[in-house]
Amino acid sequence: MSVDNNDIYNKAQELVKAFGEKLGRVPTAAVITFGCQMNARDSEKLIGILRKAGFCIIEEESADFVLYNTCTVRDNANQKVYGHLGIAGGFKKKNPNMRIGLCGCMMQEPTVIEKIKSSYKFVNLIFGTHNIHRFPEYLVSCLEQDDMIIDIWKEGNEIEENLPVERKYSFKSGVNIMFGCNNFCSYCIVPYVRGRERSRDAREIIRECERLADEGVVEVMLLGQNVNSYGKGLENGISFPELLKEIEKIEGIKRIRFMTSHPKDLSEELIQVMKESKKICKHLHLPLQSGSSKLLKRMNRCYDKEQYVALAKHIREEIPDIALTTDIIVGFPGETPEDVDDTIDVINSVEYDNAFTFIYSKRTGTPAAAYEDQVPEAESHKQFNRVLEAVQQMARKRAGIYEGQTMEALIEEMNENDPTLVSGRLSNNMIVHLPGDASLIGSIVNVKLNECKGFYYLGERVE
Ligand code: 5AD
Ligand code: SF4
Repeated sequence: MSVDNNDIYNKAQELVKAFGEKLGRVPTAAVITFGCQMNARDSEKLIGILRKAGFCIIEEESADFVLYNTCTVRDNANQKVYGHLGIAGGFKKKNPNMRIGLCGCMMQEPTVIEKIKSSYKFVNLIFGTHNIHRFPEYLVSCLEQDDMIIDIWKEGNEIEENLPVERKYSFKSGVNIMFGCNNFCSYCIVPYVRGRERSRDAREIIRECERLADEGVVEVMLLGQNVNSYGKGLENGISFPELLKEIEKIEGIKRIRFMTSHPKDLSEELIQVMKESKKICKHLHLPLQSGSSKLLKRMNRCYDKEQYVALAKHIREEIPDIALTTDIIVGFPGETPEDVDDTIDVINSVEYDNAFTFIYSKRTGTPAAAYEDQVPEAESHKQFNRVLEAVQQMARKRAGIYEGQTMEALIEEMNENDPTLVSGRLSNNMIVHLPGDASLIGSIVNVKLNECKGFYYLGERVE
């Protein structure tokens, strides 16, 4: 059944209207998003569907329909969701017409479903990562009665192309190019909850980028768990660098970003395409995870310390003004202080512009969860602080290099703290704050980076 099916939306609209008559106002809906850029993009689709059904979209969890789009990559993400569910349950006591839904990665875990069934009986709707396109139908059922609806698919081969989308920003957008992951890094739950790798047809991706450009989008962020293996498994598929070249041809698109690159699949062709490109941003997020070859092997990352460092060095030689950022896990089973020394060694030799540092979280069902040499929490925290210190020191050093230079910035929003300033993003992903007003939002301007504040700049607009 196609979700672009007008009958479903007509039915949803009727029910939302009836809901509104009962309330004496237009019913409100909120989507609360956890986790990565993929989830953020999915939420734009969920909001698009809710808007089309007739809800007034707000950001508060007290909405008449609240949907949590969950993440399960680390356990603290799960705990947060339970905390929020407690809050939503409180709202539902005061507003018995309220509907509460859950979707996203966490829902693909059977233990989570059991827990919700037994401890959060007030939840109305649960669906997973493979059937988000069925949301309009679930919404209809949900509005018709107050029981718990659960529909989790083990896998999904359908890629739905025509969902309504409500973008958070008018001038930039995520674009899914592939779904799922085949890498099975031993700590990671993603391949289990997002399923096998599936690439979207290049023509569909290009069409979407063209449409976005027509709507005024100047920056696209191509999204996939491992964009470097884009196209594998597609009949007459093109490679990721070829896809980038096609998107580069779209006139209105001024900036292209992508996420995430697995180092094992990063090709010379990609480096050369990035080097030649006028539009691909000077930023590469290249997750390291650990600098210890011993741990990398146990993590099933398919590269060692030396290979990674050589690759990063080569990229910096080819594209000197590129920003390299990374993900690092501390406290993986069997990690010793010497392994952490290796990680810090890589931080110092690659000179990351920034890094996300995570404490290892044991995920049930992954191979690493069964390893016997789990690291005690106190030790992980101690080592985490060492890594964080090294990352921050390096980030400050790298940011200082560009002080005084003039660069292009895409102005994204008003500064949160100072209404006389706007905030923009440089090609290398750094943030600059500069005097300006809302009329600049969405435009690319030249900015002199007057002062480096460590992780951001203060600047001014120049012609
Ligand atoms: N524990 C801690 N961090 C993890 N990541 C993935 N799985 C885990 C885990 N079990 C991190 C990796 C990945 C990022 C998105 O999340 O660093 O690159
Ligand atoms: Fe997880 Fe590894 Fe796949 Fe990234 S590449 S999503 S870390 S399994």
